[in-house]
Amino acid sequence: MNQTATYEPLKATPNEAGTKRAQPNLHQQAREIQPFNKITKLPIALDEEVCVASVQALNQVLADTMVLRDLYKKHHWQVAGATFYQLHLLFDKHYGEQAELVDAIAERIQLLGGISLAMGIDAAETSLIPRPPRGREKAPVQISRLLEAHEFLLRTARAAARQSVQAGDDGTNDLLVSQVIRTNELQVWFLAEHLIGVPLTRAE
Ligand SMILES: [Fe+2]
Repeated sequence: MNQTATYEPLKATPNEAGTKRAQPNLHQQAREIQPFNKITKLPIALDEEVCVASVQALNQVLADTMVLRDLYKKHHWQVAGATFYQLHLLFDKHYGEQAELVDAIAERIQLLGGISLAMGIDAAETSLIPRPPRGREKAPVQISRLLEAHEFLLRTARAAARQSVQAGDDGTNDLLVSQVIRTNELQVWFLAEHLIGVPLTRAE
């Protein structure tokens, strides 16, 4: 007995309305509901121009944070040498903390009525952090590169924090100071200690 099934595309007929409902509506397109540079005003007791300024400043901090986050993952994968295990774990810990900052900054931008940058290519175009080579670098070079990226980011974040406090946007100021600046400063300390030339086995 021939058991070969024959399949036919689902087609709606006047008598088979239920069949049509099971077919996904693919390849849909429509205009955006909010362009990137427009604000949707939410009732948070901040003037629109304050929200616009904070959104612009936060998107710059966001772009730099996304690039720094990815730089940590690059170095987590590519690190080499006797300190491989320690640095492999440290880089991934910092990556995770930067990923949390990315989410906090992006959601602050959205609640201010703006639109957060989201894609890596948009972050790369916006970030001030110098682009690293695709190849593999020695651990001290990786750490130096990360320290320079942190300093770029801290400079941008401090300027944004000052602007937000002058504008009365306390929530943005708190995010930048309590989370972005403090996390980055702490990570700088953990990295910089690795570049001190202390002997491992002989004190003199
Ligand atoms: Fe991993």
